[in-house]
Amino acid sequence: MSNTNQMPREEGIDHSLSLMREGYMYILNRRHSFNSDIFETRLLGKKAICMGGKEAAEVFYDTEKFKRKNAAPNRVVQTLFGKNGVQSLDGQNHKHRKEMFMSIMSPNGLEKLTSITKKQWEIAVDKWRQMDKVILYEEVQEIMCRTACQWAGVTIQEDEVKRLTKDLGAMFESAAAIGPNHWLGRNARNRVEKWIGELIDRVRDGKVNPPENTTLHRFAWYRDLEGNLLDTDTAAVEVINILRPIAAIAIFINFIALAVHHYPEEREKLTSGDEKHAQMFIQEVRRFYPFFPFVAALVKKDFTWNGYKFEEGTLTLLDLYGTNHDPEIWENPDVFSPERFAKWEGSPFSFIPQGGGDYFMGHRCAGEWVTIEVMKVSLDYLANRIDYEVPDQDLSFSMVSMPSIPHSKVVIKNVRRRI
Ligand code: HEM
Repeated sequence: MSNTNQMPREEGIDHSLSLMREGYMYILNRRHSFNSDIFETRLLGKKAICMGGKEAAEVFYDTEKFKRKNAAPNRVVQTLFGKNGVQSLDGQNHKHRKEMFMSIMSPNGLEKLTSITKKQWEIAVDKWRQMDKVILYEEVQEIMCRTACQWAGVTIQEDEVKRLTKDLGAMFESAAAIGPNHWLGRNARNRVEKWIGELIDRVRDGKVNPPENTTLHRFAWYRDLEGNLLDTDTAAVEVINILRPIAAIAIFINFIALAVHHYPEEREKLTSGDEKHAQMFIQEVRRFYPFFPFVAALVKKDFTWNGYKFEEGTLTLLDLYGTNHDPEIWENPDVFSPERFAKWEGSPFSFIPQGGGDYFMGHRCAGEWVTIEVMKVSLDYLANRIDYEVPDQDLSFSMVSMPSIPHSKVVIKNVRRRI
């Protein structure tokens, strides 16, 4: 007699289209209708398991149970991730490479990043004061592209900034796209990989000498567990694993602007200079607004969890958005309330906008501290350092397009310095 239970199962041949149609809500809708944090479905022509919530995140991040090699669909590898990057590694190889990423996120490194971000905001504000209207998403993407390059030790000519900003944006905007938009992302990745690859070669030939503690220097000279340098393509993929997501923080900064506009009472609390409130506000932006819908892994070997059988090789998705909106974890999850973080105890498996678990042993986002520091500087500008008008526009955002960006990209006008 079998002592395992049948998981709630979505009947039908394939549900990839429903996933595209329901976007961030796909897993959460079924968790509600099955009244279960786990269910079986079929995606990309294969059996798949979807799960969400704190307990599910705990099991998902158990590296004895799940692996990442070959988990991401090819279209995501060709646009968002790149081939052979840290996202696709397991075990000791992953740990060793991840340690290199985390060494870049030292307190000293973060301090430098904060200072570069502030300088770039200063330059941008001076420019915006002369502009009729500012499309915040596009402008902030450029701030972040310049910040990312300077921090990473990648010198960029002024006439290349717009192209690179667009290319980095295309990589993360196209991850879930099909058709021409997918190709925009793919071509952008090919261009940037080629450019960074040539730069890596020039560093190795001694023709370019970035400062020692920068991303470019570190990945040019990083040696794997066997003592070998990374091949040029992989080193380029890892440098881009720093540049691209820093540019993507523009999405969270767009949502900061939206929240400051939609919740004026919050703006008052922010102008009082209360740093704790600013931190809580940022955490709530990262929890509340949609960004990464889910993460994917493959079952490493057969195991049973909560009476359900997981078979080796099965694609498994962990619901990030749904876990951040799980009523078992969050009171009134669909209300924007920074105060909830005042008494929040913090579990690495319940608040997971950038993945969960451990940074070194698991795949939790290497850039979470970077994201928070950059958001803090940006919030200070948007709430305290500049005044601006927000004209009528479509500030709604989709729960289907992934990643979601406010439709108008947040237009502001008449930008003035406040202090
Ligand atoms: C813009 C906001 C960001 C979001 C929403 C985000 C989200 C995520 C998510 C969901 C993961 C996957 C976690 C998993 O697989 O379990 C991840 C991984 C990663 N992120 Fe971020 N991230 C952001 C910013 C950054 C930044 C700024 C950096 C670098 C400076 C960064 C570098 C990475 C790297 C290297 C990984 C792979 C980690 C690994 O596989 O071990 N991310 N991120």
